[in-house]
Amino acid sequence: MGRDERDRRSLELGGVRFIGGETAALNFRKDVLAGLSRPQKSLPPKYFYDAAGSRLFERICRLREYYPTRTELSVTKKNLRAIARFAGKGCALLEYGSGESLKTRLLIRALRPSVYMPVDISAAALRAAAKRLVRDFPGLGVVAITADFSQPLAIPAYRGAARRVVYFPGSTIGNLTHEEAHAFLKMTRGQVGPRGAMLVGVDLKKDANVLHAAYNDAQGVTAAFNLNLLARINRELGGDFSLRRFAHYAFYNPLGGRIEMHLVARDAHRANIGNYRFSFDRGESIHTENSYKYSVPEFERLATSAGFEPAKCWTDPRGWFGLFGLLAA
Ligand SMILES: C[S@@+](CC[C@H](N)C(=O)[O-])C[C@H]1O[C@@H](n2cnc3c(N)ncnc32)[C@H](O)[C@@H]1O
Repeated sequence: MGRDERDRRSLELGGVRFIGGETAALNFRKDVLAGLSRPQKSLPPKYFYDAAGSRLFERICRLREYYPTRTELSVTKKNLRAIARFAGKGCALLEYGSGESLKTRLLIRALRPSVYMPVDISAAALRAAAKRLVRDFPGLGVVAITADFSQPLAIPAYRGAARRVVYFPGSTIGNLTHEEAHAFLKMTRGQVGPRGAMLVGVDLKKDANVLHAAYNDAQGVTAAFNLNLLARINRELGGDFSLRRFAHYAFYNPLGGRIEMHLVARDAHRANIGNYRFSFDRGESIHTENSYKYSVPEFERLATSAGFEPAKCWTDPRGWFGLFGLLAA
């Protein structure tokens, strides 16, 4: 019996296998130094998610102002039978940016996947979620993959499933530029194969005041999440950023169709990472995240251009959040 076959048989009995982990940490230093050397300083949002960042994000999901998690959960609950019919039972369920795998629990109950493969850059959050899942779903086989989905990723072969379904909830696709989102969808189209499908959670265009409140919560949890990026640079790269000298700033850019998140220097100062020194003018910003919002036709066009047929869009009564069911075209 080969290794694949042994893995498949042992996963059929339930339990978790962890794989991956190294590259994301290696690239952190390189990406931070490059991003802070640009005329518009910027840091890739994927680095928000160390253990502390993932915990802060889980708190954001429970905030009154942060409607996306609640809304996506309610859309998923309300349409669970239709979603299960669309995705089919017994599939291999691959999830990108799985975090605490909260909404996935509904899908696991309804789809009874033959294997669940969560992929996340945050090793701590992924490990904790995978352990909770195998405890709560005896018999579920989990392959937890620590990896950066912006890099080519070889998904372990798993032949016991009816089909492959990729799940990408939480409007994480909004953190990608349109070009990146297109490339990502093309990659997943290749991974699911000709009979495969994808479920994508997309935050839809809406009143900018609702968006503004969601990214500027009264308790300051989103501000802490944003500032944690500098704290992480201090912890892992030996930086000496003073968090007091930066303010969280988030606004909706209607032309770009996106929320932009920045850290703005409160005064002119310098910060060091090892031998590298970075100067900040008063009011200068580090651009830390975009969160693109789509209309339904905009997202359907994007999916179509990447080789999917946009077959379903489940949404809430206010039309704030869309869960798209895509079929390999
Ligand atoms: C917006 S959160 C969504 C979390 C969860 N799916 C939800 O719906 O609440 C983004 C998730 O994607 C992960 N993530 C962000 N960029 C990533 C990347 N490049 N590769 C892998 N995971 C990434 C983060 O660690 C985090 O768990």
